[in-house]
Amino acid sequence: MEVCRQINEVREFVKEQKREGQEVGFVPTMGYLHQGHLSLMKEARKDNDIVVVSIFVNPTQFEPDEDYEEYPRDLERDLKLAAEVGVDLVFAPEVEEVYSTQSLTTVQVADLSDRLCGESRPNHFTGVCTIVSKLFNIVGPDRAYFGQKDAQQVLIIKRLVKDLNFEIEIVTVPIAREKDGLAISSRNKYLNESEREAALVLYNSLQLAKKLIIAGEKNAEIIKTKIVERIKGEPLAELDYVEIVDQNTLASLSEVKNKVLIALAVYIGQTRLIDNIMLEVETEC
Ligand code: PAF
Repeated sequence: MEVCRQINEVREFVKEQKREGQEVGFVPTMGYLHQGHLSLMKEARKDNDIVVVSIFVNPTQFEPDEDYEEYPRDLERDLKLAAEVGVDLVFAPEVEEVYSTQSLTTVQVADLSDRLCGESRPNHFTGVCTIVSKLFNIVGPDRAYFGQKDAQQVLIIKRLVKDLNFEIEIVTVPIAREKDGLAISSRNKYLNESEREAALVLYNSLQLAKKLIIAGEKNAEIIKTKIVERIKGEPLAELDYVEIVDQNTLASLSEVKNKVLIALAVYIGQTRLIDNIMLEVETEC
């Protein structure tokens, strides 16, 4: 496995592969790899001749009061894990290699970025779209892989690719979960034992919503109220948001119908966790 620190090394490597007719799959990550990342890499391994992974804790997608400095990093361990799943190249640049101090350009997907997580993280998706556009231009992949846990991010990236005419297929991979249902996240590392237990409230409240919908409940407000009650019942949890929205537009729904996304963000102690479920709800004729 190659490990590159410089943009031009990655470009050279990929150019050479493309000259030989190889297809390139790309998995962008912020490192501290877990089963969720590895499932993206395994999927990329299946579909492509070459798999490129980036490991870069992107400063521009953190709000000033967030955990950029503390975000877990362990490059040595990450490289070992990436090699084990057959990654061909890891791009692990320093911040200075990626962002020039003179840079004046950002990439923003309007509207979709302001909803859900965008309300409490107003700069987050501009940071994500800017780094993802830069990485797409550096790597030039045929396909790029993103996890469904960040459902809003996936939707925004798909829109970015469409609007800016990137010739890249976006592949979405289902949420990787622990045995008890907790969505796997690098930030789970921050949880102590009782917080880890409390964090199950995200998954359990989404399951409760699913049960209500299967039983015929269509009123989004009633379902949201039940979720809020469940989260309030967990003393270590504090709700950031819960939304029931259309999967394609992220517009709020009053009635649960068609392709529905139920997304939430909850603080467990100091740690902000997200989770979601997607449902297809048939409308009665
Ligand atoms: O999902 C992530 O880990 C990040 O938002 C991404 C896509 C790697 C951009 O920094």
